[in-house]
Amino acid sequence: MTIRSQIIGCGSYLPARAVTNEELSRNLDTSDQWIRERSGIEKRHIAAEGEFTSHLGIAAGQAALDDAGIGASEVDLIVLATSTPDETFPSTASCIQAGLGAAGSAAFDVQAVCAGFIYALAVADNFIRCSQACTVLVIGAETLSRILDWNDRSTCVLFGDGAGALVLQASKGLGEVNDRGVLSTHLHCDGRDHDCLYVDGGPSSTGMVGVVKMQGKEVFKKAVVRLTEVAEEAFSTHGLSGRDVDWMVPHQANLRIMKGMAKKLDFGEEKVIVTIDQHANTSAASIPLALDWGCSEGKIQPGHLLLLEALGSGLTWGAAIVRW
Ligand code: UT7
Repeated sequence: MTIRSQIIGCGSYLPARAVTNEELSRNLDTSDQWIRERSGIEKRHIAAEGEFTSHLGIAAGQAALDDAGIGASEVDLIVLATSTPDETFPSTASCIQAGLGAAGSAAFDVQAVCAGFIYALAVADNFIRCSQACTVLVIGAETLSRILDWNDRSTCVLFGDGAGALVLQASKGLGEVNDRGVLSTHLHCDGRDHDCLYVDGGPSSTGMVGVVKMQGKEVFKKAVVRLTEVAEEAFSTHGLSGRDVDWMVPHQANLRIMKGMAKKLDFGEEKVIVTIDQHANTSAASIPLALDWGCSEGKIQPGHLLLLEALGSGLTWGAAIVRW
């Protein structure tokens, strides 16, 4: 018998205000056509003044708890993936914990930027596997709009705000690929690629927050290579191929990357969950937002086999194989 992290709840939250490409192009030298063709984005949601990452995380976390049918007091651990914390400290996870009414549980942030949700899922899964937690709330929440240079058209059109969450709970399985839950996680980082994608500030360097800087083409090329490698690593762990997977739920950075991955991994584009058109790139929030959308659309069903994958600043990247 093996302890598995079964997914018992899923939820998400988007700020009310949606900003279209057309609206952005009124004050910026860009166009709806360029943004759609190069990235697949049609609109993004932007947090309201006074609406913080913790508020988004609380809403998504509560939705996931409601979906699971459990109360916050049953949560042993909250792991939040974010690169846009409310404050330098305390962790935004601790603010979310207070907001949800889960006092006494462990709570901390994980910083792996756009790969953050995969990292947080791996942390949560490993806490469950070694019996240090039974019920874990894993959240990805971001207010990327707060760290964008709104005059830099090469970055500001790409990102959005939002949050998504999963509730994981320990369950006993046979340790086989047919078990429901998180079957494996695979994490990597190459810190030498720092300059491809970073924020030019922080508490220890400038004392300021900074804004996103990206060499988009470089990141694009590395993403296709690294994501293919890690997906193949994940498949080979279980003797799977792309054809065995029901859905790929990728980090939503670029529609062309997602389509390229589907081709390389030998499964049809129709098996890719795509939300970048509606949400843009919400960094650590994009995978749980896509999972929740996929469920609400009736696409992702209990028992389906999913490949989750993401790459972000660091560079960090990772994948997970999940039986929903
Ligand atoms: O989430 C973390 C991981 N991130 C990613 O995986 C992102 C990976 N990169 C990408 O998604 C793509 O590289 C971008 C969408 C960022 C850019 O697409 P691209 O096809 O690589 O375009 P580019 O950066 O090579 O720029 C092409 C042209 C340039 O003009 P010139 O030099 O050819 O005259 C840019 O100045 O497009 C110009 N450009 C724009 N034009 C209109 C750049 N941004 C814009 C814009 N509107 N917003």
